[in-house]
Amino acid sequence: MIDTSFWRGKRVFVTGNTGFKGAWLSIWLAELGAEVFGYALEPPTEPSLFSAASLAGRTRATIGDIRDRASLGKALAEARPDVIMHLAAQPLVRLSYAEPLLTYETNIIGTANLLEAARSSPGLRAIVVVTTDKCYENREWPWGYRENEALGGYDPYSSSKACAEIVTAAYRSSFFNPDEPGGARMASIATARAGNVIGGGDWAADRLVPDILRSITEGKKVRIRNPDSIRPWQHVLEPLSGYLALAQALFERGADFAEAWNFGPYESDAKSVRWIVERLCASRPGSVGYEVDPGPHPHEANYLKLDCSKAISRLGWRPTWDLEKTLMKIVEWDMDFSSGGDAYSKCLSQIDDFEKSAGAEE
Ligand SMILES: NC(=O)c1ccc[n+]([C@@H]2O[C@H](COP(=O)([O-])OP(=O)(O)OC[C@H]3O[C@@H](n4cnc5c(N)ncnc54)[C@H](O)[C@@H]3O)[C@@H](O)[C@H]2O)c1
Repeated sequence: MIDTSFWRGKRVFVTGNTGFKGAWLSIWLAELGAEVFGYALEPPTEPSLFSAASLAGRTRATIGDIRDRASLGKALAEARPDVIMHLAAQPLVRLSYAEPLLTYETNIIGTANLLEAARSSPGLRAIVVVTTDKCYENREWPWGYRENEALGGYDPYSSSKACAEIVTAAYRSSFFNPDEPGGARMASIATARAGNVIGGGDWAADRLVPDILRSITEGKKVRIRNPDSIRPWQHVLEPLSGYLALAQALFERGADFAEAWNFGPYESDAKSVRWIVERLCASRPGSVGYEVDPGPHPHEANYLKLDCSKAISRLGWRPTWDLEKTLMKIVEWDMDFSSGGDAYSKCLSQIDDFEKSAGAEE
């Protein structure tokens, strides 16, 4: 599924490289032999995987705002990338209620700024714009959403990502279209929709697994909001493996893959918040259990399932680690880091395990 030889020597521009997913992606790309150019604000948390893994020294990282067109354009021009992976975003639903305009500016205008700069990037062949499963209009039905389903979004975050999808589709048809004059030389663009990701090295506020691990470390009871909410959990390496496969397909086979793609877990890994908390509390020494925070809480969408048949049949992508294994890997990462282990080496060893499980091609 992962073609390790493809990435050797490729120049890859990763926005959001100081964040949780962007840092894991940068480590993976660097390990595959790519030259990684990052563009993002300072790490959103302290500690952060970006700092713990010393990515400022291992990759070429520019600290800059995606809303600043001049700074973004300069960084992109210097990088001259073959591939762009766009992950920079304001990604938190609850923060989006407090900061709706910041969320819209970052997630919509930021995406437009990037695509606008990409129009004049010579040599660029592939762009993957990362959105979310929340970009679908949630009809609260039991079936998985397919890529051609209606977009929507109840809250500012979800709707901002649906807008990012629409902006990307418009740029694709207007400016990166082989049928338009000059379009044949242009890059192919796809969007990638994945659900809640978890993994070692996430210290974000207001996310379940970091909240649980923080409480356990501090000897406090874990406070959870909606114990019976079902979410489609997946290890961070799962969607990242999809983004890598998609970028390669765009680079090598172009316009046939320039569309939207779902990368979700198997249905059996859609579990309740309570299920996760109980397992993590049982497997991490020092836990004093959990309690339910009665709220009130802002609206959060119910379970939204992705239908990933298209990625499975056309990209050869599939989920690799089940949820039990994912939680085991998180506890392993966290305990190693807490006892002074090196974050970069730990990520590399988990990436190596993941590649073996996924059957990487040399
Ligand atoms: N974590 C999840 O469960 C999840 C699920 C679905 C989709 N996503 C998407 O994946 C992407 C990465 O999410 P994450 O979990 O790593 O988030 P994160 O908060 O850890 O990282 C966000 C990154 O975006 C950067 N950023 C934010 N505002 C910026 C700005 N104005 N200019 C430049 N950079 C800016 C931050 O500096 C950081 O590097 C986002 O697009 C998010 O919407 C995440």
